[in-house]
Amino acid sequence: MAPSSEYIIEFKIDVFKTLKLAGTTTGVLVAIGLGAYYIHRSLQSSKRVVLRDEVRNILRPFQLSEEQIRRVMANLNSEMTNGLKSNSATNELAMFPTYVHHGPSGQESGEYLVVDLGGSNFRVSHVVIEARNRMRLNNKIFLIPHSLLLGEGEKLFDYIAECLQRFIDDNKLSLHKSSDYKFDLAFTFSFPCHQTSLREATLVSWTKGFSCTSVVGNDVALMLQEAINRRKGLKIEVVALVNDTVGTLMACSSTYRDCRAGVILGTGTNACYFEHLDNVPKWISPRDNATKNVIISTEWGALGKNGCLDFIRTDIDRELDESSLTPQQQVFEKMISALYLGEIVRLIIVDLVQRSILFPGRMQKSPSIRPDYNIFLILRGSFYAKHVADIESDTTEDLSITTNILTSIGIHEPSYDDCYIIREVCKTVSLRAAKLAAAAIAVLINRLNMPSVTVAVDGTLFRHHQNFKKNLIRTIDRLVPRTHRLVLSEDGSSKGSALVAAVDRRLKSASTTVEKTFPS
Ligand code: BGC
Repeated sequence: MAPSSEYIIEFKIDVFKTLKLAGTTTGVLVAIGLGAYYIHRSLQSSKRVVLRDEVRNILRPFQLSEEQIRRVMANLNSEMTNGLKSNSATNELAMFPTYVHHGPSGQESGEYLVVDLGGSNFRVSHVVIEARNRMRLNNKIFLIPHSLLLGEGEKLFDYIAECLQRFIDDNKLSLHKSSDYKFDLAFTFSFPCHQTSLREATLVSWTKGFSCTSVVGNDVALMLQEAINRRKGLKIEVVALVNDTVGTLMACSSTYRDCRAGVILGTGTNACYFEHLDNVPKWISPRDNATKNVIISTEWGALGKNGCLDFIRTDIDRELDESSLTPQQQVFEKMISALYLGEIVRLIIVDLVQRSILFPGRMQKSPSIRPDYNIFLILRGSFYAKHVADIESDTTEDLSITTNILTSIGIHEPSYDDCYIIREVCKTVSLRAAKLAAAAIAVLINRLNMPSVTVAVDGTLFRHHQNFKKNLIRTIDRLVPRTHRLVLSEDGSSKGSALVAAVDRRLKSASTTVEKTFPS
């Protein structure tokens, strides 16, 4: 039966009343909800303001102003010029000439072995260079037992020779070779070395946690050759010793003709670039008309040795330095590279815990705290650059990535505030590193003074730490208006070192051809 109009009116009124009532109720509820939310927010934010003021004071010295960055640039630039003048041990920067004068021409070819030593593991590669520098690479990573990093140097080189033997056998590289065939080997050795030729290089000091005895002061190419010779049947000749920055540059310059610099932002940091020999007063080796440039390995990680970075060093930097294997050395590297970023963050966290800003009340010995929590707080090196990268880029609403990382290292049930503060710490430390690296690259670009330049870059920070890379590029763009680009150099330190050996072989065979054609 159809409803009467009266009923309809009644119904409309009822609906209207109900809506009004509901509206009022909803309004009240919304108001209460919003009120509660804002009270909660203001409580939260007032709590956070108190926390953040203290946290800010601790983080402030890590925040670099444009003026400070420009001062770092000026200091680095003048130390680079000083380093080119003489080999004095008092120089901040070593600025080692590498005896690599030319990039690849595209006409290099041949097969090479490469040993790449510079981090906690090392790599043996077999590189085949074909027409127009197309390269095939087959490699294997070998772990270096920790005892070898800190033990007798000769044992380290014997271990490398043993791994070379294994690599050749496993890959049957000697098959179809005559019995007197010798492999040419390029040795990528990523530590400060004073070179006197392409294959003679004296180790000046260890960096990055290495500390084998009886190697500093010795020719490392010779030490490797002797270890190879001790293994009967291993037929290899060490033909070049190459810093990883040089490999990185060479590998890229076969594709980018304007590539004149190579940078490593990884476990350690360093850069090399082509310098005109006229700007290298300390160059004393013979020089012919064709030899106009030489690649200089700057060893910029050492900047700050004499105090020129004291104006930006923090107490935490000093604490990290004092407890490192190499106090007073590699000051710049210790502010930038992956080996140290995690430790800087860890030391700040420990400071914040001691001030009861982080994990308040949890420092006390409580049965609910597992021992691994305390291990994190005590154990140096237990927080990695990878943790910094992952936490810094945590954009989840509840910071669950940060929570999971903290849990995995023994900090259970961190509060939202704890995670938030730790993310701030990671962002700040990583931004400082990116700005400093950018300042250094900007100096290189300015020195090269070309209309456009490509800088080859490799290393875990550049490859895997996205925020670091973004901040790095942004800062360089601000510091140098000159046209430039940064290019990732894939497997640069192995492929590029093979190219160094190949360029050398090509130049030598060209000169013997000339000698044969024009007997004197
Ligand atoms: C070394 C450099 C090397 C750099 C990157 C530094 O610690 O001194 O020779 O190029 O690390 O591996």
